[in-house]
Amino acid sequence: MKGKPQKLFKDQSTVKSGPVTCLGKEFNNDEARREFFTEELRQNLQDPAFRAIEGFPIGEDEDILALSDPPYYTACPNPWIGDFIEQWEKAKPELENNELYHREPFAADVKEGKNDPIYNAHSYHTKVPHKAIMRYILHYTEPGDIVFDGFCGTGMTGVAAQMCGDRQVVESLGYQVKDDGTIFQQETDENGRNKWVRFSRLGVRRIVLNDLSPAATFIAYN
Ligand SMILES: C[S@@+](CC[C@H](N)C(=O)[O-])C[C@H]1O[C@@H](n2cnc3c(N)ncnc32)[C@H](O)[C@@H]1O
Repeated sequence: MKGKPQKLFKDQSTVKSGPVTCLGKEFNNDEARREFFTEELRQNLQDPAFRAIEGFPIGEDEDILALSDPPYYTACPNPWIGDFIEQWEKAKPELENNELYHREPFAADVKEGKNDPIYNAHSYHTKVPHKAIMRYILHYTEPGDIVFDGFCGTGMTGVAAQMCGDRQVVESLGYQVKDDGTIFQQETDENGRNKWVRFSRLGVRRIVLNDLSPAATFIAYN
């Protein structure tokens, strides 16, 4: 990029915010959070080992910094992923009765229209409707679990992970949600009778998103 890099997040700096906590650190406002972690990222960029990570973007430090909103979004490998995972793991609700993780393979047809307002908020050549992804996340994970999408495109898996905490959206998929957050789906038994079976729990899942396309990750972040 020629000339002075433009800060992609400059408009947000004018938004007034109160104290924020990020990765265990307290800041007077979100702008202070961004400045602190931008400085940390600047120092990381000086480290040849960090830059030697395969696939590291070819770009000037100031351009990478201007594109980033650390620690949440970085236009290069994110040095805080381990910290987020550690924090999320600590905050994760305990499984009931120490139950062991077990899931049968997800085996059902998934069909979703492409006319949801969220789907139409932006375009991307290989975009997947978030409601289709929600069925898989609800099947395989519990609230607080961490989902990794290393080929995230515009981040519809991230939208899906968040929406797993939205009762109305979950019910719109044809599931029943009880007052305690237990989710039931309808299944047909061997006698052809329909029955409601408990299969998941309401609650947002955590998400780590990655893509080699900066355009995709920028949309995903926003
Ligand atoms: C099928 S699309 C994902 C679309 C996404 N589900 C959405 O809803 O927007 C696959 C993505 O993989 C990315 N990709 C391809 N090779 C990659 C690689 N080696 N590392 C990371 N991302 C890659 C592409 O840029 C593309 O955005």
